Amino acid sequence: MTNINGKTRTVGLIGNPVEHTLSPFIHNLLAEKMGINTAYLPFQVKTENVKNAVLGAKALGLLGNNVTIPYKTDVLPFVDILDDEAQVVQAVNTLKYKNDQIYGFNTDGYGLRTSCLNNGIIFEGKTICILGAGGAAKSVAFMCAKENIKNLILINRTLETAQELRSNIHKYFDLPIDVFTFDDIDSHTRKNICFQTTSIGMHPLIDACPIEDPAFFNGMEWAVDIIYNPSETKFLKMALSAGVKALNGLEMLFYQAVKSFEIWHEVVIPNQIVGEVLLRLCDFAYNRTIKEMVK
Ligand code: ATR
Repeated sequence: MTNINGKTRTVGLIGNPVEHTLSPFIHNLLAEKMGINTAYLPFQVKTENVKNAVLGAKALGLLGNNVTIPYKTDVLPFVDILDDEAQVVQAVNTLKYKNDQIYGFNTDGYGLRTSCLNNGIIFEGKTICILGAGGAAKSVAFMCAKENIKNLILINRTLETAQELRSNIHKYFDLPIDVFTFDDIDSHTRKNICFQTTSIGMHPLIDACPIEDPAFFNGMEWAVDIIYNPSETKFLKMALSAGVKALNGLEMLFYQAVKSFEIWHEVVIPNQIVGEVLLRLCDFAYNRTIKEMVK
């Protein structure tokens, strides 16, 4: 951790809950490796205090904030200048306070894309299936839509939410999109890559999975779960049993943090430092190396 002094710039995570966040580990280690005098802290904020938290952080001279569940959309009204990605997704995970202005960014899509590309996932020409249609699904869907994919399949408990997401994507992209609920999917519909974006299977309810039929995984190349705790969700276990390659959400979390750090501190983190911090994160989170994690 940086030696705190009168020049230390503070950054923090606004969310609820925040107790289990890995972001302070990532950001404080990046700061140490980069030799930047900054400290990253978690701030648990109640819903009724989100506005005060953002304006208060700006007033206190914080450099910026990360914003996480459940406030990524709630902070939009307080942002003065929204970057293109955040504008399209209508969600902000990174705030920056500069020149008396509040800037809003969304680095989740970058995090997911970088994580996928690093692991050899190719999007072009593929049929992509997304489980869920909430905030996280939105980032995933827009990231995929930009990648010259063949088509999208959205599966959600509430059909209307998936239909709304489809309409939002169609405002920007001319892409074939089918929507289903979990009750009316045909398990045998072909899909190359499936992203699991719901909270189902997250610690402590680790035996839950939005998909029950093992046939759902037949012919799939990659299963990606944005959950990173546990490292292998039931969804990923089922995929692995069917011979499908599996990737969890830890690297996505890591690369969205890298991009946020670069935005706040106006630096480019050298690849060597990125690699070192990612290894330390895997060890910290799972006592494992990244090679052991990706199967
Ligand atoms: P996030 O920002 O993490 O995506 P969210 O916007 O609240 O959070 O979205 C949660 C997603 O998980 C939604 O797609 C939600 O489905 P609904 O639109 O039907 O609410 C899905 N989800 C959460 N709990 C679920 C459950 N028990 N069964 C099925 N889907 C669930």
